[in-house]
Amino acid sequence: MTEPDPKAIAEAAALLRAGKLCAFPTETVYGLGADATNADAVLSIYETKGRPRFNPLIVHCADLAMAERYALFSPLARQLAEAFWPGPLSLVLPLRAGHGLSDIVTAGLDTVALRVPDHPVALALLRAADRPLAAPSANPSGKLSPTSAEQVRKGFAGRVTVLDGGPSQRGVESTILAVDGERLIQLRAGALALDEIEQRLGRPVERAKKGAAISAPGMMLSHYAPDAALRLDAMPQPGEAFLAFGPTPLFSGTMRNLSPTGDLHEAACNLFAMLHELDASGATAIAVAPIPQTGLGEAINDRLQRAAAPRS
Ligand code: TXA
Ligand code: MG
Repeated sequence: MTEPDPKAIAEAAALLRAGKLCAFPTETVYGLGADATNADAVLSIYETKGRPRFNPLIVHCADLAMAERYALFSPLARQLAEAFWPGPLSLVLPLRAGHGLSDIVTAGLDTVALRVPDHPVALALLRAADRPLAAPSANPSGKLSPTSAEQVRKGFAGRVTVLDGGPSQRGVESTILAVDGERLIQLRAGALALDEIEQRLGRPVERAKKGAAISAPGMMLSHYAPDAALRLDAMPQPGEAFLAFGPTPLFSGTMRNLSPTGDLHEAACNLFAMLHELDASGATAIAVAPIPQTGLGEAINDRLQRAAAPRS
């Protein structure tokens, strides 16, 4: 494992603080990092990976104290963090009020996945950036997760800055565990074995079932589900709220516009907040204007389709 080079760390931290992307090493795989409090920066992750969906991302922290700024730790959650952090365990926990994370990172959920990576370069970077870092694996969507800086550079044809920390020791992503009261539910199998968690804590860990109340959003159809019914590709009927995109039509009801200029990047930034606002307005139905299926539009439409899917 390569030790941190202070100059390289400082440069990478400056990039991240300026809202740019930087790939960095962890013990599992290389991550494509962005400031998790900066919606624009987080969106660049999806654009750069060519990822068609806004799955919520794991937020990397320097230590438990930093993680506690963003989530509420029950005694059980704290016990897990103290046992396995730094390490390949991501914990899905309730968001803390005033957390400041972009809602693109959490995909509009009221929980967040957090972990402290066990890699000296990652930890030095997190301390220098002094920001929580959202980071999925640093590969173009659909390609294998990278375990070396060289693979990251090749994958993105040199378009992504990479902080080199030598080969990843684990080579598979972190285990994701939801802590729900006294229940522990594994949402993704990963580098930390279930047995090890069960032995250390002396309690069982459930495996997430398909369609269960809590599951990894990638497996879930109805994901961020507003109370109001959503009608997609629609113009509003009387009594409905309207989520517009592009030039605003004449409409006297409650309306938000994702982007009056038709900018998909702006629309993606506004998506979850505006859905929440319209939902909170008390409307029983929200009509959503058509969104082009190009670029980030694919991710926006995916989220809208999930939000509109029938509830179980
Ligand atoms: O090893 C790893 O975890 C790597 C390295 C770079 O740290 N990172 C990684 O991150 O795999 P990412 O962002 O690709 O993992 C995202 C997955 C989502 O697909 C989802 O299943 C789960 O984490 N996830 C994130 N937030 C969640 C939440 N609030 N509730 C349930 N699952 C969540
Ligand atoms: Mg991945």
